[in-house]
Amino acid sequence: MEIQKNISLKNFNTFGVHVNAKRFISVKSLYQLKEILKFEKDIFLISGGSNILLTRDIDQLVVHINIKGLSIDKENSDFVYVTVNAGENWHDFVLWCISQNYGGVENLSLIPGNVGTSPIQNIGAYGSEVKDVITNVTALEISTSKLHSFSNESCKFGYRNSIFKNEKKGKFIITSVTFKLSKKKHRLNTQYGIIEQELNYRKIKEPTIKDISDVIISIRKSKLPDPRKIGNSGSFFKNPIISSDQFYKLQKKHPNIPFFDISKTQIKIPAGWLIEQIGFKGKRIDNYGVHEKQALVLVNYDNALGKDIYNLAITIQKKILDTFSIKLEIEVNII
Ligand code: EPU
Repeated sequence: MEIQKNISLKNFNTFGVHVNAKRFISVKSLYQLKEILKFEKDIFLISGGSNILLTRDIDQLVVHINIKGLSIDKENSDFVYVTVNAGENWHDFVLWCISQNYGGVENLSLIPGNVGTSPIQNIGAYGSEVKDVITNVTALEISTSKLHSFSNESCKFGYRNSIFKNEKKGKFIITSVTFKLSKKKHRLNTQYGIIEQELNYRKIKEPTIKDISDVIISIRKSKLPDPRKIGNSGSFFKNPIISSDQFYKLQKKHPNIPFFDISKTQIKIPAGWLIEQIGFKGKRIDNYGVHEKQALVLVNYDNALGKDIYNLAITIQKKILDTFSIKLEIEVNII
């Protein structure tokens, strides 16, 4: 275990933004993590780096969570319980599940980032959320170096939300996550319109979990920029949830507005649609901008500064507020 000095974090965040880390250490085991906490509590954690926008150099010790490995805890004829260490790549885990015919994460194919951060924002896509398959989250308390086990319920999962973004923020380091996956009679989730369309197009009538994963991979590839080519952090904003009264007024003006019913009084509308309406879809300012195929994604074309991307986000928020009286909430962690 070696502390490196003055390294660039460009390769450790999917936005590909360069900032300097004064001191940096990559941790490969729980033991190493505990050793670090013995002499340093004020640390800056980095994992897959897929949900952060770095706007400044980091003076704290940067701890890169690189704890790998997974194990099967128990299984019966219907289900398997798998514990996955925090540093495993999320999509590699999904592909492993599909190769084993373990169902439950196929709709979450190709999401960037690591397993350990998946519960923090409760990653979700195409009608599934990771909370649907998590049974437990194990996390190290920074102040005491003690391991805690959080049940699914105690994680207080919500839409792109959990206890780790709220009252436990900055207090715990997630070290592993346990999933309950199906071994047969998979509950396939093909409700999301575009999945059905794509399955029909491929003439697949009885899809397997691999078919669904393949379809989702191709949909994501067609809409979302590959962070290895164009820096980005996926959806930069949450989709806002507004009152049905406000929605009906909006719908009168814009009859084609897409929406999802949340409850009798609440409606979720796509932030990407709102951003498109204010004319920002595909907007490029120097070396950063808004993705041309999905307005919810801000992009770094080449060596942009985090603070410039952040300022663009503020401009978008302000314009959406002025035009629609809707407050867009930033989903990515701004550092
Ligand atoms: N839309 C537009 N213009 C745009 C983008 C979207 O009009 O530029 C409209 C689409 O036409 C569609 C609707 O918005 O009618 C929904 O679009 P899409 O299916 O692309 O999904 P989204 O609501 O924009 C959410 C998640 C994504 C996830 C997709 C698919 C959030 C914040 N984002 O996006 O998650 O992949 O649904 O389930 O909830 C992420 O979190 O990083 C992410 C990519």
